[in-house]
Amino acid sequence: MTEWTILGAGALGCVIAGQLHQKGERVGFMLSERHRGHFHPNLDLITLSGRHQLIQSQPRFPEHARNVECLLVFTKAYHVLDALKELQHLPKTTPVILFNNGMGITEQVKALLPDNPLLAGVCSHGAMKEQDWLVRHTGKGETWLGPLNEAGKAWSHLVKPLACALEHCEWSDDIALHQRRKLAINAVMNPLTAHHNVTNGQLLEPRFNDVLEQLNDEVYQVISRLDGSEAETKDAFRRRLHKVIELTATNHSSMQQDLIHGRATEIDYITGFILEHANDIPVPVSQQLYDEIKRREA
Ligand code: PAF
Repeated sequence: MTEWTILGAGALGCVIAGQLHQKGERVGFMLSERHRGHFHPNLDLITLSGRHQLIQSQPRFPEHARNVECLLVFTKAYHVLDALKELQHLPKTTPVILFNNGMGITEQVKALLPDNPLLAGVCSHGAMKEQDWLVRHTGKGETWLGPLNEAGKAWSHLVKPLACALEHCEWSDDIALHQRRKLAINAVMNPLTAHHNVTNGQLLEPRFNDVLEQLNDEVYQVISRLDGSEAETKDAFRRRLHKVIELTATNHSSMQQDLIHGRATEIDYITGFILEHANDIPVPVSQQLYDEIKRREA
C-alpha cells in the first residue's frame, strides 16, 4: 500500500490526510523547518458529523524525501516551487500531485522535476483551519485527478484509493479544464471576500449583487473562451458559484484569511490568470480587485 505524503499542512491537506487515514491508508506530513524541534502534535480533525478524529502520523522532513512514495502538494501556489526545491532527494519515480489553488506554475514544476510523474488534483471539499493542527471538514466535494506530463499518465490507479476515502474521485485527461473551473470560482469569491473582509456567505447580501454579477460575467467570458467547446453555460456557472457560496457560507476564504493575517495571497495565480488571459475581454472589476489586493499585500 502506497504511503501518501502531504506537503503543506493547511486546511485542505489536513482534511484529505484525515479522510485517507480513516480508510486505513498510510499518511505522513512533510514538515517545514519551522516545525522541527517542536513536539509534533497530532492532527485533530473535526469530521462532517462533528466528531473529533485524532490522526497520528509520522513527521517527515526534507532529508526523508528519498522515502516518499507519493507526494500530494497542498502548499500555497507561491510556495510550491521553493517547497519542492527543498526535496532534493525525492526519487525521480515518485509521482507528485499538485493540489494548489490557481494556475500558472505547471511549466516551472515540469522544469524543476523533468523526470517525475506529474499530476494535478482539483478538489472542492470545504475545509477550515480552526487552530494549528485543528481542522474542520466543512463540506463534501468532488476530486479530479489528471496528468500534467507523459509520465503522469501511468498513475490513473491512484483514483481508486482516493475515491474510496473521499467518496468521489475521477480521472480526467483534460485536468486543466477542471483547474480552470475551480479557478473561475476562486476568481469571483476570493478577491471579493478578501477586499470586503466578509465571509463567503455574505457575498449573497444585496449590497454585493451588482459587483458579483459583473465579476461573474468577466470571469465567465475569459474562462469559457479558454474552455472552447467544453465551456459550461453561463447559467451553469452561476448555479455552481452560488452552490459553493452556500456550502461554504460560514467559511472565510483563503484569500480573506491570508490578507487579514498579513500573509501573501494567491492573487497572482487566480485573478492574475484571468487578467493574463483576458486579451480583448474587458475585465475592469478583476483589475480593480487585483490592484487593491496587491496594494494591501505590499
Ligand atoms: O480558496 C478558498 O477559500 C476556497 O477555494 C473557496 C472556494 C473560496 C471556499 O472558501
